[in-house]
Amino acid sequence: MSVICVAGARPNYMKIKPVMDALERRGAEVVLVHTGQHYDDSMNEVFFRDLGIRPPDRFLGVGSGSHAEQTGRVMTAFEPLLQEVAPDAVVVVGDINSTLACALVTAKAGPLLAHVEAGLRSRDWSMPEEVNRVATDRVSDYLLAPSPDAADNLRAEGYRDDQIHVVGNVMIDTLLANLDRARRSDVLDRYGLTPKEYGLVTLHRPANVDDPAVLAGLLKALGEIAADCPLLLPVHPRAAGRLAELGVPGGVRLVPPAGYLDFIALQDSARVVLTDSGGVQEETTALGVPCVTLRDNTERPITVEQGTNVLAGRDPARIVATTAAVLARPPAARRPELWDGRASERIADVLLEGGTARTRPRPT
Ligand code: UD1
Ligand code: UDP
Repeated sequence: MSVICVAGARPNYMKIKPVMDALERRGAEVVLVHTGQHYDDSMNEVFFRDLGIRPPDRFLGVGSGSHAEQTGRVMTAFEPLLQEVAPDAVVVVGDINSTLACALVTAKAGPLLAHVEAGLRSRDWSMPEEVNRVATDRVSDYLLAPSPDAADNLRAEGYRDDQIHVVGNVMIDTLLANLDRARRSDVLDRYGLTPKEYGLVTLHRPANVDDPAVLAGLLKALGEIAADCPLLLPVHPRAAGRLAELGVPGGVRLVPPAGYLDFIALQDSARVVLTDSGGVQEETTALGVPCVTLRDNTERPITVEQGTNVLAGRDPARIVATTAAVLARPPAARRPELWDGRASERIADVLLEGGTARTRPRPT
């Protein structure tokens, strides 16, 4: 079986790596396509080095742009490549513009399409990722869900049971495979941090960082929290300009985006993590580290129901109060079922058992 695996931006690399490995272990021929949506060393190559991902077989080099420009550039570059490689299947992960672009091209070209992380729903249509998630699922043959709630969402939208496969969480495959190595990172020494005496922050959602008034409110809250618990904030490039313009309160330290192993080490030793990231909500749950999510909703409710995640929204007073409560009484948590390091093996089972039959079991 020949399979194109697509990756394009930071949260894709840790998801695609275990899937590629599992497919190759079963003898599948894998072609890794990198769209180039993220391109800085700190958002890109560092993950290839840390995770031992081989250099991409094909690089589309699309770069940044508006949603239409970026999505269109990926589609235009991916279409001839797909024709040339003519794989049996294409695997896309997550919810970024590259995911949707390659899904749309594949759905019209013929190969089977597998979506890893199918069924996640925030029900917040102001998020570009929600559009990407819903549209990608709609044209996929294999809906590979990380948790039962995601499968429930898909059933509620009319997908049939034989299309939905609850396989677990591939991001946790990579986390568990690399945790010992991450724990050997010297990143805490480099930043002069003591385990469990600092908080870790990430911010990159457009709703949080594009509007200076909203970002200023978040920074005010972070300043108050930092009076009790100093904060480290590895800066996503989307937020860099506005953070520099606004300036950060005392106790909040800005540093460049961290590599994968360093960032897992920083999460693992944090007293609390404050974030608007999707993946970080999951990793903190798997690590048992308290997580305060700076959003009103989450497409990953299992991290709230079973894990360490608490939604705090964007109101500064609520964020400060929620964080104080979490620090005083960290949430009890367990790791969700099937977040066991074997999700990518289950994905390989599904794809290889499904074979190359070009049946498209889509909803009618
Ligand atoms: C994208 C994804 C988002 C994901 C995030 C992970 C979409 C719609 N959004 O958001 O779902 O959570 O990646 O980090 O696909 N930039 C750089 N260097 C880079 C990459 C980006 O400087 O290597 C800057 C550019 O100014 C760019 C901006 O960041 O315009 C935004 O990048 P983009 O890929 O469009 O979206 P993200 O906000 O990174
Ligand atoms: N991450 C990282 N360095 C950082 C911030 C995040 O390695 O400075 C990792 C994090 O551990 C997780 C992934 O990047 O594996 C999450 O990506 P991101 O938050 O950019 O995207 P999202 O998950 O929100 O789509």
